[in-house]
Amino acid sequence: MPMNILVLVGSPRASGNTEILADAFIKGAMKNGNSVDKVNLRKLKIDGCLGCRYCIAHESKCVLRDDMDQIYPLIDNADMIVFATPVYFYTMSAQIKAVIDRLYAKHNFDFKINKCALLAVAADDGDVFEPLISTYEHIVSYLKWENVGMVTANCVSNKGDILGRDELKLAEQLGESIS
Ligand SMILES: Cc1cc2nc3c(=O)[nH]c(=O)nc-3n(C[C@H](O)[C@H](O)[C@H](O)COP(=O)(O)O)c2cc1C
Repeated sequence: MPMNILVLVGSPRASGNTEILADAFIKGAMKNGNSVDKVNLRKLKIDGCLGCRYCIAHESKCVLRDDMDQIYPLIDNADMIVFATPVYFYTMSAQIKAVIDRLYAKHNFDFKINKCALLAVAADDGDVFEPLISTYEHIVSYLKWENVGMVTANCVSNKGDILGRDELKLAEQLGESIS
């Protein structure tokens, strides 16, 4: 059954490795009729959660008025969310983390979303993704979402380094597997 998939692209760099990897996933996901909302977070202004708990007393409405107002309806409509991020200091980019923190407003966590995936790129090799994956797995477990896959590409630093890499095929295959 086709799904509504929300893909959050968390790199501030336009057409960088993160976005190329995300686009490979999207190409696969669209092959079998899924509908995809791709959001480039670099174009939006999303502040961090204030921790004010206004949302608790106001039916899950966040006190902040910013571009998260565009994301909440997409989250409400999505069956699946994909976090595409560069590794920044061993974890996700601030753009992705800001969106995740702002999910706090949905404090009942009764999302339609029940599936998620992680796409990540990094310049280093070795165990560079370990802290990011650990954080992602904890978040997913807390929100009771099913992780349907992770594609990570290391040793990509400059824009376009990821072109021609096998991880693009893996991301496309992951997209194709969603139905
Ligand atoms: C602020 C910042 C922090 C970074 N931290 C890491 C890091 O901890 N580990 C790593 O391997 N690469 C790190 N990188 C490199 C990026 O993850 C890498 O260049 C990636 O390909 C960028 O993705 P993009 O092309 O989508 O912007 C960092 C880059 C920046 C700008």
